[in-house]
Order: sequence, then C-alpha cells, then structure tokens
Amino acid sequence: MNNSSKTNDEEQQLVAMFKERQGGYVSGEEISRLFGVSRTAVWKKISKLRTKGFEFEAVSRKGYRLVGSPDALTSHEVKASTNAAVMGQQVIVLPVAESTQLEIRSLAEQDAPEGTLVIAEEQTQGRGRMGRSWYSPAGKGLWMSLLLRPSLPISTAPQLTLLTAVAVCRAIRSVAGVDAAIKWPNDILIKGKKVCGILLESVGEDGLIRFAVAGIGIDVNLLADELPSELSEIMTSLRIERGCEPVDRAVLAGAILTELEQLYNIFLEEGFNRIAALWEALSFTLNRKVTVQTPEGQCRGTAEALDRSGALILLTETGERMRIFSGDVAIEG
Ligand code: BTN
Repeated sequence: MNNSSKTNDEEQQLVAMFKERQGGYVSGEEISRLFGVSRTAVWKKISKLRTKGFEFEAVSRKGYRLVGSPDALTSHEVKASTNAAVMGQQVIVLPVAESTQLEIRSLAEQDAPEGTLVIAEEQTQGRGRMGRSWYSPAGKGLWMSLLLRPSLPISTAPQLTLLTAVAVCRAIRSVAGVDAAIKWPNDILIKGKKVCGILLESVGEDGLIRFAVAGIGIDVNLLADELPSELSEIMTSLRIERGCEPVDRAVLAGAILTELEQLYNIFLEEGFNRIAALWEALSFTLNRKVTVQTPEGQCRGTAEALDRSGALILLTETGERMRIFSGDVAIEG
C-alpha cells in the first residue's frame, strides 16, 4: 500500500470510529493508542479531516466529538453498512465517471470478482434504458453498478432485472421509510413519481450469462429545485418525499447489497417463484389500466399478472392476453 492510500485508509477508519460513537467523545489518548501514533499526529489527522469538511468539537480532558460530516461516500462506510459477504466485497468509489456501467464492464473483462461495486459521485454520461440518458449530478444520488456472474442461461436476464428492483425497493422502504413501489419492469416510484431506475445489461456466451451488470440510479438527496424542469413532473427524490430530510447514501447502498445478496441466493437455489411473489407484493403496475410502448408498437389494457419468465401479462380491451417482454409502461389515471 502506498503512503497516500494508507493515510486515506486511516482517515476512513478514524471517521468510522467517530461515527460508531454516535456523537460521543473520543479522547486523543485513545486515538493515539489505537493508531499507534503520537498526540501531535492525532491532532494533525483531525486537522486534515477538518479541511475535508468534517466538523469536530474539541473539549479538554474529554477529547474530540464528530458534529458534522461532508456527504461524501467512502468504500469503508458502504462496507460497514452491509451484512452481505459477496455483494460489495470490493467497493470502488470514483469522484466522477462517464458511466459506472462502463467502469464495471471493463473490470469484468479483467476478471473482477462477482459482487464488485462501482459507485460514482457524479456521472457525465449516465445511461438509462432504451438508449436514454440518466441525470447524475455530483453528490446527490446513488449512481452505482454491481457485477454479477450467475451460471444461468441468458434467458434469465429479465428475472435478474426484476430481482434487482425488488432488492432496491425493499432497501429504499426500510432505510428511507417511504412507500416505494415497482412499475414494471424495474422503475421504483413513490406516489407515482420515479425515484430510481435500473439498467441491467448482460453479456452472454454460448447461451449463458458470462456476466451481468446491475446499474442502479437513485435520486437520493436532490431538492425540488435541483431537478431539471423537464424532469420535475415525473421524477422525485427520497429527500423530497421525506420532507427535506436527507438520507445517508452509504447506509442505503449497504442495505441494497444486503437485500440483493439474500434474494440472489434464493434465486440461485430455488429459481424465480419466490422473487416473483415478492415483486408482485411491491408492484405499482398490476391490476391497473396501462399503455405499453413496446419495440413492436403500442398496446393498451389491464396489467393482469407477472409470468414466471418475468414478462407482463396484459389483458387487452378486446379480451386478448399478451405477454410483454420489454417496453415502457404508462399508468392511466
Ligand atoms: C432507467 O432508464 O430507468 C435506468 C437508469 C439507470 C441509471 C444507472 S446510474 C448507475 C448506472 N450507470 C449508468 O450509466 N446507468 C446506471
């Protein structure tokens, strides 16, 4: 490890220690003992963290207390916030990336292990479904891509997409305490507005998935006036829905990894049935009148069910049942 990454690592450990104390004091003596450094070196570490936006209160004979943190993500915090063993075993946080999908693809080609996660504070060319772009401003969201390497036929990729949506929806509900639901196949909505999009891309070989990249974009801490005007009618953020209360992005990322690992293991062991039932329980689409824009054209009807391949069953106005494999759903009324 070179000197600067050692310093970085120690700073992250120090911050984690203060956070574990939840606003309590940590004495300079304790820090110098734990890190094996002098009291002057402790003071220098605290001063360095202050330049990075951390705020400490220092009281003689008590020590230091963390009273404010910059909202910057670190791999250490994400790892400390998850119970997952494989998902997030390697977490890379980049200050800026063109797209985390591209970063993970290149790591996958260099044999990165399953569960490798890349998070970017900002994406300059965030990618959405169907060739669209994804607005990814600095420090406001969770823009991340996770590498999966299931030994499964490529035909199961749509099921992985739905599984990811269930995991993210459950994590959002538990961490942010909001009433999130899934619009087929994998948009997460709160009160009808989109808060998260998922882009699952897979690379196959001989009919099997060689690797898949689950790209997750969540509008976490954007305020209403930070959404571009063309998005403000259709998009929201967790913070807006919580009455301006921000959400800790590392905690949310950690919870997503925990949920995803649990569901992924169920999927690999038992197949898709249980995941489909969980998806249905969180669905915003089923039993509603919808218009679906598919690659073959537009169709209208009632979203009746999710079939076990992941397709949406649509009961059309003429009483015909259609299986929709990909498309954009608009809910009517
Ligand atoms: C959608 O169109 O709804 C899907 C949006 C997916 C956005 C995420 S952000 C992290 C990852 N990197 C990208 O470039 N896109 C996905």
